[in-house]
Amino acid sequence: REALQGLLLARIRDVPDYPKPGVMFKDITPLLADPAAFEALTDALAELCTRHGATKVVGLEARGFILGAPAAIRAGLGFVPVRKAGKLPGATLAQAYELEYGTAEIEVHAEDLVPGDRVMVIDDVLATGGTAEASLQLIRRAGAEIAGVAVLMELAFLNGRDRLTPTLAGGPVEALLTI
Ligand code: PRP
Ligand code: MG
Repeated sequence: REALQGLLLARIRDVPDYPKPGVMFKDITPLLADPAAFEALTDALAELCTRHGATKVVGLEARGFILGAPAAIRAGLGFVPVRKAGKLPGATLAQAYELEYGTAEIEVHAEDLVPGDRVMVIDDVLATGGTAEASLQLIRRAGAEIAGVAVLMELAFLNGRDRLTPTLAGGPVEALLTI
């Protein structure tokens, strides 16, 4: 666990004042470019899917796609993209959520999640929890169960974990790194 955390942390680049002044951006592209680190991350996320009995992986656009898809394959599970509004061509369920300024909306293809599915939500960062919380609402509205939320990094000072608690109903929030 500590060896994994060291490997991951060494390949996440801090970018000050991006995308705006005062924000420290966590850039995961050095990690993705290192096959040993990316594989170790994929294995760890896949193990969390297996441990929590997931039958499907939901990845959150955009960076949740990069981390979630290989983890789904490694765990032997299907992958379902949750996209920003307007990107999916079929019949969708949509969920609006609050941003720091204004609102955003995400969607999923309704037919990709069915009752009996147990879904692990994967993303790169849990910050305020708004994005993950909206995805949990979508999964519930589709009639599927929630296996948990798994992220590479949790920004603990933003308390996103607390925002997920009511919808998760005791389900796990797994963060490989806590910042
Ligand atoms: C970032 C990050 C998470 C989300 C976390 O995505 O990748 O998805 O914000 O923030 P929250 O917990 O406060 O909702 P962003 O919306 O910037 O889009 P991107 O992944 O498409 O770059
Ligand atoms: Mg994102």
